[in-house]
Amino acid sequence: MSTLEGSRVLVTGASGRIGPVTVERLRKAGASVTTLSHRENPHLVADRVLVGDTQSQADVAAALEGVDLVVHLAALAHRDIAPAYDVYTTNVVSTFNVLAQAGALGITRAVVAGSINAYGLPQNLHDVTPAYFPIDTNIPVDLADWYSLSKHNDENTSRMAWRHWGINVVTLRFPHVNTPDVLLEQSRALAGSPRDGIREAWSYLTTEDAARAIELSLTASTTGAHAFFLAANNTLAPYRTEDMLRAFVPETPRLRRFVEREVPIDLTPARELIGFEAHHEVAIPTLDLPLDI
Ligand SMILES: NC(=O)c1ccc[n+]([C@@H]2O[C@H](COP(=O)([O-])OP(=O)(O)OC[C@H]3O[C@@H](n4cnc5c(N)ncnc54)[C@H](O)[C@@H]3O)[C@@H](O)[C@H]2O)c1
Repeated sequence: MSTLEGSRVLVTGASGRIGPVTVERLRKAGASVTTLSHRENPHLVADRVLVGDTQSQADVAAALEGVDLVVHLAALAHRDIAPAYDVYTTNVVSTFNVLAQAGALGITRAVVAGSINAYGLPQNLHDVTPAYFPIDTNIPVDLADWYSLSKHNDENTSRMAWRHWGINVVTLRFPHVNTPDVLLEQSRALAGSPRDGIREAWSYLTTEDAARAIELSLTASTTGAHAFFLAANNTLAPYRTEDMLRAFVPETPRLRRFVEREVPIDLTPARELIGFEAHHEVAIPTLDLPLDI
């Protein structure tokens, strides 16, 4: 029996890309799911579907009624999706509001959709590259946009919520998440311009795996507030990782060697804290890196 059997879970931002797959998975595991999103989605099937704003105290209070666990996905999910003020305030106010109310109610666990952008480089307009590989949670941060700042600060909010209310929080620093067919298309684009993927370490995750990571985080026994990277084990670029690092960032220290198309991100915390290993990999052949790329 899944440990989610009979539990009542609130999923915010459930009508987006990751939400419907997550809700379906949690319901299959026996949870009763309430959702709270800005907009409707005909593909979203839940036990209680609420349309509202995660920045509103009243909307979140109503959504949390009778809830045992929280999955907080709601966010404006890119630097350029809306004016800077809206992206920043929506994200940080929503995360504060959801975790503060959940904590005050005595809810014991929340999972928050963080982002690889929490370390600041992927959407950074400067010509910067990671200080070393594999990218890990100690990597120097360079925040130069409001979306990355919001995801970075959400992790502080999670730590505060745990310290103040004792709510355990797992923040999943998602890489690019999408369906296998979209990822395959993106892989083709990356084959032509692999330099574009350096700051995200060419990482990705399927929506199914993202939903599985959320379920594992809800049922994990970790206490405290944790934030860590997760990704598929291989990269979305068709070239060997060592070849790309040698060609594009030859001066950047490497803390270890990478095998074939191994993703140069430290996935140890995801394995150790929630037992996560990606199940889905985009099937692309490994090619030699062209000399003129
Ligand atoms: N998909 C990715 O590649 C990716 C990568 C890293 C992190 N993330 C994070 O994962 C989470 C989910 O991502 P997604 O791809 O499903 O995003 P999405 O843009 O597809 O969906 C966002 C959801 O949040 C809801 N939302 C936004 N503002 C809201 C508000 N004020 N009140 C209520 N609902 C609101 C929207 O209605 C929608 O349901 C986000 O926090 C995002 O930042 C996603």
